[in-house]
Amino acid sequence: ELLSSPRLISSDDPLINERVNPDHSSPFPSNFLFGTASSSYQFEGAFLSDGKGVSNWDVFTHQPGTIMDGNNGDVAVDQYHQYLDDIELMHSVGVNSYRFSISWARILPRGKFGGVNPAGIQHYNNLIDALLRKGIQPFVTLSHYDFPQELEDIYQAWLNPCIQEDFRYFSDVCFEAFGDRVKYWVTFNEPNIVVMHGYRTGIYPPSRCSGSFGNCTYGNSETEPFIAAHNIILSHAAAVETYRTKYQEEQRGSVGIVINAIWFEPISNSTKDILAARRARSFLVNWFLDPLIFGQYPMEMQKILGSSLPKFENNDLTKLQGSLDFIGVNHYTSLYVKDCLYSTCGVGMGTSRTEGFALQTGERNGVSIGETTPMKYYYVYPQGMEKTITYMKERYNNIPMFIAENGYGEENILNASVEDFLHDVDRINYMNNYLDALATAIRKGADVRGYFSWSLLDNFEWIFGYTKRFGLYHVDYPTLKRTPKLSATWYKQFVSKHKKTK
Ligand code: NOJ
Repeated sequence: ELLSSPRLISSDDPLINERVNPDHSSPFPSNFLFGTASSSYQFEGAFLSDGKGVSNWDVFTHQPGTIMDGNNGDVAVDQYHQYLDDIELMHSVGVNSYRFSISWARILPRGKFGGVNPAGIQHYNNLIDALLRKGIQPFVTLSHYDFPQELEDIYQAWLNPCIQEDFRYFSDVCFEAFGDRVKYWVTFNEPNIVVMHGYRTGIYPPSRCSGSFGNCTYGNSETEPFIAAHNIILSHAAAVETYRTKYQEEQRGSVGIVINAIWFEPISNSTKDILAARRARSFLVNWFLDPLIFGQYPMEMQKILGSSLPKFENNDLTKLQGSLDFIGVNHYTSLYVKDCLYSTCGVGMGTSRTEGFALQTGERNGVSIGETTPMKYYYVYPQGMEKTITYMKERYNNIPMFIAENGYGEENILNASVEDFLHDVDRINYMNNYLDALATAIRKGADVRGYFSWSLLDNFEWIFGYTKRFGLYHVDYPTLKRTPKLSATWYKQFVSKHKKTK
C-alpha cells in the first residue's frame, strides 16, 4: 500500500521524530528558501523534443566509454513531461522554492544561429507558472554544464571570447521572457568543476587535457582551465551588466553564481600545510569569486601563475567588481590538503605541481576527515559546512549566500528492490547534521537565505550515469515511478518546523 501510494511515509516513525526536534529555537530567518535542486540535463530528458538542439552533454554521453553505466540523459527522469506531477511532490514536501536550470539548447537550439525556439520558451513558462501557483519560488540557473554543441563546433565554446556575447544574448532572452516571475538568477553552476573536468582531467566534455592529467587527444591542462574560466567570469559579468541596465529596475531580482565549495582542511598544523589549504581555496574556489567581487584574481594565483594567468582589461573592471548579488554554495564534502611546494607529494585529484598542493582523501593523525559516503571522495564532515560558510562570510563581507546544493549520494545496487532504498537513515543523518552546522553558522551571523537539497528525485549523475541515487524520492528507471523515501518525510517535517513566512 505504502509503495503504490504517492503519500509520504508515515511520520510516526521514531527515526524521524528523534531527529527533527532540535532543542533550540529556529535560527532560519523569515522567508528563508527551503527547496530542492535539479538541472536540465540530469532531469528533463526529451532530448530532441519540440525543437531542442543537441547539447555538448548529448554528444558526449553518446560516445562509448564516457559514462560509467553506458547510459545518457536522453530520457533522464522525464521531468520535461512530468513536471506537473513533480511539482505535486514538491508541494507535498512543503518546500517554498525549486532550483532548476534552463537548457540553453532548448531556447537557442543552434547557439548562435537560427533564433529562439518558441516551444522552449513555452515549456519554461509552463513550469514557472505551475510552480508559482503552488507558492514555489523559481530559482533559475542559466548554465548548469550543458550548452548547444554548435558553440563547441564553431569556436570551441569557453576557450573563445566570442562566447561572452553569446551567453549575454542567451541570458537576455531568458531575463526578458521569464524575469517578470523569476527573481533569483544564477548565471553558472559550478564553473570550477566545468573547467577542471573539461580542460584539466578531461573527464567531462570537451574532453581536453594533457600530460599526466589524463588521456585526451587535444588540450593543455596547465593553461586551458584558466582561459575557459576567464571567459566564464566575463560571460557572467556580461549577463549581470545586461540585467542591471535593462531589467533590474522593473524586475527587481538578483543574480549570483554557484560555486562548488569543498572545505579544504590542512592535513597537519604545520605552516606549509596551512598555506597549502589556503592555496587550494584560492585556486579552486576564490578563483571565480574574487574577480566578481574584488575585480581581480586571488593574490596567490597571481603570484604563482604570473603572466600565464589571463589578464582583465581596464574596462572589464567596472563590469566585474560587485557583479554578484549573492553567492550560491554547493557544499557536500571536505578534503585534506598537503603541501607540495616545500615538500614532495604525489599530485592528487587534478591539482598541479605548480600550484603546490595535493588534495587527499586520507587520514590526519590516524583520523579521517569523516565517514566516507558510498560515493568515493564524498566524506561526511558536517563542520565543513560551518567552516565554509564562515570563511565566505569573512572573506566576502557577509554577502548574501544560498546553499544551492547539499545532499547524500548512495550506490544504486543492481537487482535491489525499491524497498531497499526507502529507509534512507544515512541520508537523514547527513541532512540533519549538515543543516545543524548551517544553523550554527547562521546563529553566528552568516547571511544565508536559502537551502536546496540535492535532490528531489534520483537522477542522472553525470559520468556516474544512473549508478548513484541522490533523491528524497526513489525513481524506478524502467517505469519512471517516483516513490518517497523516509528522507522526504524527514525534510517535510524539518521544513514545516523552520519555515517562517512574513
Ligand atoms: C553538483 C552538481 O551541480 C550536480 O549537478 C550534481 O549532480 C551534484 N553535485 C551531485 O554530485
